[in-house]
Amino acid sequence: MKTVHIVIPEKIGNVSPEIYGHFSELIGGVFYDGLWVGKNSDIPNIRGFRKDLIEKLREIKPAVFRWPGGCFAETYNWRDGIGENRPVRPSWWTLHDGRYEKNEVGIHEFMDLCELIGAKAYIAMNVTSITPMEARNFMDYCLSPRGSTTLALEREANGRPEPFEIDYWGIGNENWGGGGNMTPEYYALEYRKFATVLKAICGNKSKLILGGADASDYKWTHGIMSGLANSYTTVDGMSFHYYCREGGDAVNFADDEWYRLINNAGRMEELIKRHYSIAAGYGMENKAKLVIDEWGCWHPDGSGPSKGYNLYEQQSTLRDAMVAALTLNIFNNYSEVIIMANIAQLCNNIQSLFLAGGEHCIVTPTYHVFNMFKDHQGGEALRVVIDNNEDEKHKISASATVKDGTLTVTLANISLEVDEKIDLSLLGYDGVVGECEMTVLSSEDIHSCNTFEHPNTVVPVTTKVSDCRMITLPRASIVKLSIKML
Ligand code: AHR
Repeated sequence: MKTVHIVIPEKIGNVSPEIYGHFSELIGGVFYDGLWVGKNSDIPNIRGFRKDLIEKLREIKPAVFRWPGGCFAETYNWRDGIGENRPVRPSWWTLHDGRYEKNEVGIHEFMDLCELIGAKAYIAMNVTSITPMEARNFMDYCLSPRGSTTLALEREANGRPEPFEIDYWGIGNENWGGGGNMTPEYYALEYRKFATVLKAICGNKSKLILGGADASDYKWTHGIMSGLANSYTTVDGMSFHYYCREGGDAVNFADDEWYRLINNAGRMEELIKRHYSIAAGYGMENKAKLVIDEWGCWHPDGSGPSKGYNLYEQQSTLRDAMVAALTLNIFNNYSEVIIMANIAQLCNNIQSLFLAGGEHCIVTPTYHVFNMFKDHQGGEALRVVIDNNEDEKHKISASATVKDGTLTVTLANISLEVDEKIDLSLLGYDGVVGECEMTVLSSEDIHSCNTFEHPNTVVPVTTKVSDCRMITLPRASIVKLSIKML
C-alpha cells in the first residue's frame, strides 16, 4: 500500500497548455501520406489534411505544433513552400531515406493545420544556412499587417491577407549537431545576431526561443548562458532535447528492457532541474524557462506499418504510453519552470500519436495518454508526495491539478508484477468530495499495440468509483481520476 498525498493548499505553478504540445517535422511520413493527403485526394480531407486525423486530434486539444523541423529546418528555404509551382529539393533527410522534399506543406498549409485545430504555432527558424536578413524576410512575410509591406502583399496574393499569428520562433535546432556543429560560445553569438534582427520586427507578437542542449550536455548550457547573461538580447525560453533509447525492440522487448526504458524516462526530472539551475546561476531564471521541444522514446527503425519506408516510424505499445505518462507527470510537477514541451512526433515518426497510410489512420496508446491528461492544461499544479516509493521496480508516478472545481490526478504504476493499492490523501482539504470518475489504460500483454488491422487493442476504460480515496492501480497501468470538489 502506498499513500499519495495531494497537498491541496500548496500550488506549485500553472500548467502551461503548451506543455501538451507536438512536434511535426517535414520528415518521412509525418506529413506525406500521414497528416497530409492533399486537397485532391480520395481520402476525406480538410484543406488537404486527413479528416479522420484532424477530428481525433481536436479531441486531445493540442496547444501548439512545432514545424518544419528538427534538422529539416536547417536547410529549409521558406520561399520554396509558398505560391504555385513549388520546387522539389533535396532535404536534410534525403541522404537517410532517398526522398526529396516536394514542398506541398509550406507555411500557409502549416498555419491551416494550426488554425483547424486551434493550436499555437512554433516555427523552428533556419539559422545555419541563411542570413538574419532572410530570416527577417520570413517573419515580415508572416507577421506584417495587411497591405503594409511588399512581402505582406505577396502573402495576400498567395491567399492570406491577414498576418499569421505565430507565438513562438525557435532560433535554430540542435546547433551543437545538425544545426551547424557549433560550439556553445559561437551559437550564443549567432543567437544574439538573429534575435536582435528578429525582435526588431516581431516586437511583442512572438517569443524567441534559445536552442539548448542535447540531454545532459550541461557544458552547452553553461556555454550559451555565459554568452548571453548580462546582454540585452531577448530570450523568452531555452530548449533542450531528450530521447529515451536503449529499450530493445519497439514491440518485442524483454521485462528488463521495460524497466530500462522507464528508468531512462525518469532522467527527465534531473535534466529539468540541472539545466534550469544552471540558467538560474547566470541570473537567467526568468528568461530561460524551459522548452523541451523534442522528447519521446526512440526505438530501432522498421516496426511501423510502412515497414521501414517512413524514416524513424515505429510501433507504440503500452510501454510508450507509460513513458508518456511518467514524462507528462514530471512536466506537471515542474510546471513552474516549463513553458512548453513537444513530443516527437505527431504521426508516423518516433513516439507518434497517430499511425496513418493510404485509407488507414489509427491512434496509438500514447494518444490515449494525451487524451487522459488533457484536463491538466491550464490547471493549477499541486504538490504531490508519495510515501514508500523508493523501490525502482515498484514505483508509481503521480501529478495533480485543480481547475474549475475538479481535481485531476494522473498516476502510473510501472510494476510488471504488483497491483498497487493506493490511499489517496487530500491533505489540507476539509471540503466534501463529490462524484469521482476513474479512467484506466492498461493491457494484459504489455507488448500490445494498435494496428491497422486491430485499431482498438489498447484503449482506456472509464468507470465511476464510489470512494476515490481507496483505489487500486493495476500492474503496468496509467490511471486518471477526476474528482469533483464540493
Ligand atoms: O525528431 C527527429 C530528429 O531528431 C530531429 O530532426 C532532430 O532535431 C533530432 O535529432
